[in-house]
Order: sequence, then structure tokens, then C-alpha cells
Amino acid sequence: MTTRRRFTLTQYLIEQRRRFPSASGDFNALLLDVALACKAIARSVAFGELGSVLGHPTPEVATSINVQGEVQKKMDVISNEYFTQMTEWGGHLAGMASEEMDEPYQIPDTLQRGKYMLVFDPLDGSSNIDVNVTVGSIFSVLRAPQEVIDSGRDVVAADFFQSGTQQLAAGYALYGPTTMLVLTVGNGVAGFTLDPNLGQFMLTHPDIQVPTDTNEFAINASNARFWEAPVKRYVDECLAGKPGPRAKDFNMRWIASMVAEAHRILMRGGVFLYPRDTKDTTKPGRLRLLYEANPIGMLMEQAGGRASTGEVPMLGVQPTSLHQRIGLVFGSKNEVERIERYHAEPIKHELDNPLFTERSLFRDSHY
Ligand code: AHG
Ligand code: MN
Ligand code: MN
Repeated sequence: MTTRRRFTLTQYLIEQRRRFPSASGDFNALLLDVALACKAIARSVAFGELGSVLGHPTPEVATSINVQGEVQKKMDVISNEYFTQMTEWGGHLAGMASEEMDEPYQIPDTLQRGKYMLVFDPLDGSSNIDVNVTVGSIFSVLRAPQEVIDSGRDVVAADFFQSGTQQLAAGYALYGPTTMLVLTVGNGVAGFTLDPNLGQFMLTHPDIQVPTDTNEFAINASNARFWEAPVKRYVDECLAGKPGPRAKDFNMRWIASMVAEAHRILMRGGVFLYPRDTKDTTKPGRLRLLYEANPIGMLMEQAGGRASTGEVPMLGVQPTSLHQRIGLVFGSKNEVERIERYHAEPIKHELDNPLFTERSLFRDSHY
């Protein structure tokens, strides 16, 4: 039996760098530090209860609330520390921002500062960690404003207010049955599987493409009564199946771990919706723009899929705050475009359409 020759993550990054002969190597070094943080998190997660990493950091749940007003898990805190500790020393970063830190993280004065900024959700889906369901880390790399690079000053929140199109790299690590790293450096999407023997991410999915069409959708249906009309219409049409306007049956999935849903969609297509709704009008969506929607959006677009607010392309949105929430729809292109169309069509138009009046599939008090 001959062993299959596979590229490591390092080799992949070196190959990618050949496109930019003058590149310093800082960018690759940063991504390898991120990968190291992910490997460390994967080990901690794998020990679970044996490693005393489950549950909350303090016995009083009320004292473990993060800036999002959400309950922090021990692993949220541990993962955040792995990210900061393993990436701050390299000299590549001007600063960082994380779901778990209210304010931007400053590279200590004793260390060198660099030209990139790292934004991350250290552990997405962490509400699932105690029940042993797949979780992951999501990250995005931005270039620091020139004036920050030149002056070496502390970063402020506004330095991170860059639209998703400005991202230089985005990716996630998935801590599931296997640990994977899925990455884009702006030239397609590549997936790596952690070889536990070598401790190396090996290139196993060289050019991930999201199928354009799908019959699988993911949404938290318990929020149905808070959905806006276009979302209600879309889901109702899916549920109507073969006899309905879509004339085909759909399948539904909800892992409650967005990173795991993103991975499923990258592997076999599908559409994910966490739309803006009326559940809590102070929150324009559940998921966060800078470290959830934008990196997943870049991956989707680089894999031939699409990411949107429901109304406009996600990557064009100008951020206005560090922990800003936003409605998020991503996945197979034709479905995301359909959802955008539904948002663009005036509601009156739907009423005029005999499909919606006669079948009355989508009519409710909102119409
Ligand atoms: P996080 O664990 O980083 O706070 O994010 C959890 C997110 C996302 O992963 C998931 O899709 C969503 O929250 C689940 O929301 P519901 O609780 O409404 O299902
Ligand atoms: Mn998250
Ligand atoms: Mn998180």
C-alpha cells in the first residue's frame, strides 16, 4: 500500500504566498499561530469532563455574563486565552477583537506590534459544549489602518470597522468527530483535517464549492412568530414541499452551532438563516457581524455560495460597532438570492399574486 502524499497547512500557505513574491511571510506566520491556538482548543475540548473544562467559569452563573449578555462557558474563556496567547507574541498583530472581550485587546508593550488585526469568536456554539455537540472557532484577518501600523498606537474599536470585503483571510476550526480547519486567503476555500498522529492539519478538501441548489434549510423555527414576512414566506414554501410552489420536498436541520451548519453547507449545500426578527427589537439579529457573519460570508462567497443580510450582500455592510448583530442568511446561491428577492418584493405585490392569495400559504396577520 502506498501512502497518499498530502500537503500540510504550512505547505498550502507557502504555495499561496507564491502569488505574492514580495510577501514577508508575516501573514502565513499569523495563520499558523491561529492554527496552533485551534489545535490547543481541540485538545481541551477533547478532554471534556476529564479536563474539567465543561460548565461555567464560576459557580454563580450570573457572574459569567459576557458583553453580549450571554452566559460564558469555561471553554469560552479558555479558548479566548489560547487565541490571545498564541497569536500576540509573533509580532504580526496590531490588536485583536473577540466575542469574549468587551474592548479591543492590546498587544502588550513588551511585545512587537504588526500590521494585521485578528477578530474571532473563540468558541461558536458553546451552549452545546456540555452535550458534546460540534463546536468551533471562527476568525477573520484584517489589515490595520496605515496610521496604526506607522504609529504603533493602541487599537480602538473604530479600527475594526471594515466591511467584509476588506478581509484578507477568514476561516474556522471545527471540533467534531474530526478536527478540521477551513480557510480562505482570498483564493478559494481549502479544508484541512487534523492528523492526530502528526499534530498537523493536512489538506483534505482542496477546493470546496457550495452546490448552487439545495433542498436543505436551517432555521430556529421556535422564532417563527417573530419572523418578518419574507422569511415566513420562504420557510412556508419549503414546508409546503412537493405540492407547494417550490414543487419539491425540503429537509430541515438545526444544530444551534452556526459553525457546524456552515461546514455542512460547504460540504453538501444548504441554506442557513438567522434573520433579523422582532423577538428583541434592541437586537437587529442574533449573530455578530465582525466575527461570525463576515468570516463565514467570505468563506461562502469564496466557495461560490452567497451571504446576505437578507436584503444586501453581507460583505458590503459597513460595521458601526464591535459586537454589532445582524440578520444572516448564507449558503447555496440560488436559495440566498431567492430570499433576497422575497425581501425586495413589496408585500402588496405578493397579495396581488394569485399564488399567495389563492393558496393562502403565506397569508397571516402580517399581510
Ligand atoms: P456563541 O456560542 O458564539 O454565542 O454563538 C451561538 C450562536 C450560533 O452558533 C448558533 O447558530 C446560535 O447561536 C444558536 O441560537 P439559538 O439558541 O437561537 O438556537
Ligand atoms: Mn458564536
Ligand atoms: Mn462564541
